[in-house]
Amino acid sequence: MHKYALASLTLLSCALGSASARDLAAIKASGVLYVGTEPTYAPFTYTQGKKVVGFEAELAEALARKLGVKVEWRPSGFDTLLIGLSRDRFDLVVSSHGITPERQKAVDFANPHYCSGGVVLAKASGPLTVAALKGKAVAVQLGTTYAQRAQKLPGLGSVRTYPTNADALQMVLNGRADAFVTDRFVALEARKKFPQANLKLGEMLFQEKIGIAVKKGNAPLRGAVNTALRGVMADGTYQKISTKYFGEDIRCK
Ligand code: ARG
Repeated sequence: MHKYALASLTLLSCALGSASARDLAAIKASGVLYVGTEPTYAPFTYTQGKKVVGFEAELAEALARKLGVKVEWRPSGFDTLLIGLSRDRFDLVVSSHGITPERQKAVDFANPHYCSGGVVLAKASGPLTVAALKGKAVAVQLGTTYAQRAQKLPGLGSVRTYPTNADALQMVLNGRADAFVTDRFVALEARKKFPQANLKLGEMLFQEKIGIAVKKGNAPLRGAVNTALRGVMADGTYQKISTKYFGEDIRCK
């Protein structure tokens, strides 16, 4: 996320501090957990008709079951999710956020629910290494750690940001961008989904731990999410969902 956007997000979350955040008791009493996500990010959260589905969708629903509540999804732009959390638009944000020191100033994170990293994705004839990206047009999703990293790579022709993950992927599919920097599992999924595009995964740029965000200071909710997460990781639920989407267990080792 942009430095200034983050600074204002931090200010905002302080200013709105104790507005009307729902505590754990209020969530349990209502029976509903409001969860924000940007659902064009297959296979983590994406839509099937009106339903939000995917690895993180099923995981969030399994966590909610442990808490005795139901998830109500609130799809939103990725760059608005953490601000929305500070403004009490959601109880949780489950949208594959990398746990970064900047974001930790604005929100609190549960323990990581998977580990992955940013990778270069291009057509087989396209640039697959940082060296080959010199002078090339790179697409990324707005507000992501991939955008941040791509903007720091020296010598790129351009870095264009798109509001959704799907839009950024589209640019490399239709040849308007030479490469796309995104999550490794998102890249694998895109390669599988668009075989005619002959996509290839290139250099891994960095690794990150991915976490669920709660409003800054909501320690009881964060604790309940961590307990539920430990539960699904211990009872086989996590492994089952992970194997369904990835053929492997993607928890941090
Ligand atoms: N892992 C990246 C980040 O932390 C990207 C997450 C994008 N998520 C999404 N649902 N579009 O910024």
